[in-house]
Amino acid sequence: MDHTFVMVKPDGVARGLIGEIVSRFEQKGFKLIDGKVITISQEIAEQHYREHREKPFFGELVEFITSGPVFAMIWEGKDAVKNARSIIGKTNPSDALPGSIRGDFALQVESNIVHGADSEESAQREIALFFGK
Ligand code: CMP
Repeated sequence: MDHTFVMVKPDGVARGLIGEIVSRFEQKGFKLIDGKVITISQEIAEQHYREHREKPFFGELVEFITSGPVFAMIWEGKDAVKNARSIIGKTNPSDALPGSIRGDFALQVESNIVHGADSEESAQREIALFFGK
């Protein structure tokens, strides 16, 4: 069975949305394999977002993701990466459809509530980075 990495970002944790987001994944049929509240170090944040290191917003991205606790998760299910991204919605909440997590709870691309791995390779790398497995 496929696995993916998902993380409720500091804005989602601060707004009390962990339960809502976990519930949506469970309702979709995903199985929660692991989950933990952590405050990400600068080093882990830079590794996690390394594919964005040349982007003009990289500094803000790292600052934001380290600004407070996140809830990191491993979810199991068929086509896990693709199905997770579908219920999370488009990166920019302005493009995310109502019914998706970002479509229902976010307005800004910088604080879009939740992160989901964008490929099988990213999922494996992010699971290893956050859970060491
Ligand atoms: P995420 O799925 O965590 O992966 C990369 C993140 O970069 C993305 O969600 C957005 O929150 C963030 N991002 C994308 N575009 C911008 C932008 N223009 N300014 C700040 N952050 C951005």
